[in-house]
Amino acid sequence: SINVNDPSLIALVNKLQDVFTTVGVQNPIDLPQIVVVGSQSSGKSSVLENIVGRDFLPRGSGIVTRRPLVLQLINRPPPAKMQSNGVSEEELKKTSDSQANVDEWGEFLHLPGQKFFDFNKIRDEIVKETEAKAGRNVGISPAPINLRIYSPNVLTLTLVDLPGLTKVPVGDQPRDIERQIKEMVLKQISKPNAIILAVTAANVDLANSDGLKLAREVDPEGQRTIGVLTKIDLMDSGTDVVDILAGRIIPLRLGYVPVVNRGQRDIENKKRIDLALKAEKEFFDNHPSYRNKASYCGTPYLARKLNLILMMHIKQTLPDIKNRITGSLQKYSQELEQLGAGDLLGNNSSNIVLNIITEFANEYRTVLEGHSQELSSN
Ligand code: GDP
Ligand code: NA
Ligand code: MG
Repeated sequence: SINVNDPSLIALVNKLQDVFTTVGVQNPIDLPQIVVVGSQSSGKSSVLENIVGRDFLPRGSGIVTRRPLVLQLINRPPPAKMQSNGVSEEELKKTSDSQANVDEWGEFLHLPGQKFFDFNKIRDEIVKETEAKAGRNVGISPAPINLRIYSPNVLTLTLVDLPGLTKVPVGDQPRDIERQIKEMVLKQISKPNAIILAVTAANVDLANSDGLKLAREVDPEGQRTIGVLTKIDLMDSGTDVVDILAGRIIPLRLGYVPVVNRGQRDIENKKRIDLALKAEKEFFDNHPSYRNKASYCGTPYLARKLNLILMMHIKQTLPDIKNRITGSLQKYSQELEQLGAGDLLGNNSSNIVLNIITEFANEYRTVLEGHSQELSSN
């Protein structure tokens, strides 16, 4: 159900984890975290939510996201049907969340042990916890809310939602709000393994994009910044973002993806995410400016692009992991030999481990190469 999470990629990562656990290496693949940056109300929370494919983030006009939300997705195979986490199907039917499911739940760091199967309740808790630290008015706080989502349908990956960049303090906001938010954002996007989604509303001049400006500060070469153009549906008729997509305005190595999220009225009417994604597809398929490039538009393409970047990351990480394992195997067999126990391990067992990895690499080489070609060609 979670569409950043290409099943083949999940299978790949799970298999890698299995192989490495077998040889005693825990968590060898540290996947990059995905961070959204942009002006207030540019659509950051909406983009993240669409990527995850579930409704659980507070969104709306004005300053809604007032504390960083560090969202850790954790891949967890479904348990055997009999031991359903203490939650019965009956209880799930009582939730207000039509997608509630025993295999998918959220847990907050500040509420240890409490499982949220109803994603609407997750949103309520985020609002409550925001008010607890940042007040009921428009104050902000740099203290992050940490939320984990466990699911068989996600990659173990971190997404970060952030307050929007603003210039003029309102209400309870501190005088130096601009600096405070900027620091909060920079802290997250400076990490070299962060993938930056620089979100800009299409009805705003790209040259004034706060998200792009800040992304440039930490990623001047544009190695890890994707431009996301929201609110394409709100552009004046006769205008479009074709020049931006073609890289004629501010070129980005990883390019731009135009998306259509749910509007304020859709939020009020609780429009379902699957219907919203369908409407987005129809929009691009039928729009005169985009219909001949509709496969490069919309949330599924953005998710796909993220998948490719993750694939590339894994591909780049593999040789290093393999070297580390070879190194420690050599060390251990030498030690065993010195102890006079060389025959216990023999050359065989290190070969077995290397064979597993090589076999694995061969199995996925085609997938990885296919993906990297695709990434470099668009
Ligand atoms: P954030 O402040 O950047 O996190 O933005 P939100 O995701 O909270 O969205 C701000 C407002 O813009 C909400 O009312 C959304 O419904 C609306 N919005 C976001 N993206 C789009 C879009 O692509 N089209 C339309 N029509 N409205 C959008
Ligand atoms: Na907002
Ligand atoms: Mg937000």
